[in-house]
Amino acid sequence: MKKIILTGDRPSGKLHLGHYVGSLANRVKLQDEYEQYVMIADVQALTDNFENPLKITESVFEVACDYIAVGLDPAKTTMFIQSQVPALTELTTYYMNLVTLGRLERNPTVKLEIKQKGYDDSIPAGFFCYPVSQAADITAFQAELVPVGDDQLPMLEQTNEIVRRFNRIYNTDCLKECKPYLSHASRLVGIDGKAKASKSLNNAIYLSDSPEEVRQKVFSMFTDPDHLKVSDPGKVEGNVVFAYLDAFHENKEEVAELKAHYQRGGLGDVTIKKLLNETLQTMLAPIRERRAALNKEKILEMLRDGTAKAAKRANQTLTQVREALGVKYF
Ligand code: TRP
Repeated sequence: MKKIILTGDRPSGKLHLGHYVGSLANRVKLQDEYEQYVMIADVQALTDNFENPLKITESVFEVACDYIAVGLDPAKTTMFIQSQVPALTELTTYYMNLVTLGRLERNPTVKLEIKQKGYDDSIPAGFFCYPVSQAADITAFQAELVPVGDDQLPMLEQTNEIVRRFNRIYNTDCLKECKPYLSHASRLVGIDGKAKASKSLNNAIYLSDSPEEVRQKVFSMFTDPDHLKVSDPGKVEGNVVFAYLDAFHENKEEVAELKAHYQRGGLGDVTIKKLLNETLQTMLAPIRERRAALNKEKILEMLRDGTAKAAKRANQTLTQVREALGVKYF
């Protein structure tokens, strides 16, 4: 039997190349080896977007569309919508008894987000408690492995604490601890070179960008401001074109040679940008093709089937949890 893995994304707009190197490409590989669940975490997204629910609703479809476009196969990967699996909410309620406010306060990822969002002393309780809901997501599917970036490690730790407490207090072994499956992909910089690629900074290349949009973004990339003439020696560190070639160009030797040439002088920005543009267009071509074959009905159907399958799996765990708790009366 294949091991179960589960990941999730908060839907907030279309996905970009940073998501692709960070998680999507990996999931396409993992779906052959594991029984993979991929959850669109709209409930979690609402915890910090409750005033703007339409954004989340629309993003659910965009994200699902990107999933199929990159090559997630509904026959291998169960893609589903968190809000449509009520078992997750019920599990969250039971788990809420097993965590203290003090423990929630110490979660470093949530702590950082609270600071970034400037919540100060008006933290929405739903947001504060989302690690508990995430524990429900993970345990409902008895996921053994959770592919995540290191920012999510505190969530997995908290999940495993809940699992141990639950099993001890209710004298059961129905919940399973999980392990992280760390992605070692480094963060992708934005095309401006200033920070990571992100929607809010408007410096990302989207998987759904047209060939022309991609080309324009590549040609506007930050390189080395002191590299004025082709014959000048150029800097590779902080040069966005090389960062993207490192991430996407398959021939690492060629990239190493180009870097050396650029540093020596004699290699122009236009040449490396042309190469990067070709590399990205080739990579995006099959993604575009799959996207062109999609429509809203197909996406809805895929999500409906995936969600039904996920709900069935989650309900099995919920039944065991209810039994362990003694809240099974009929
Ligand atoms: N917290 C994750 C994020 O912000 C999303 C998420 C929700 C998730 N539930 C999950 C990730 C369960 C892994 C497993 O990206």
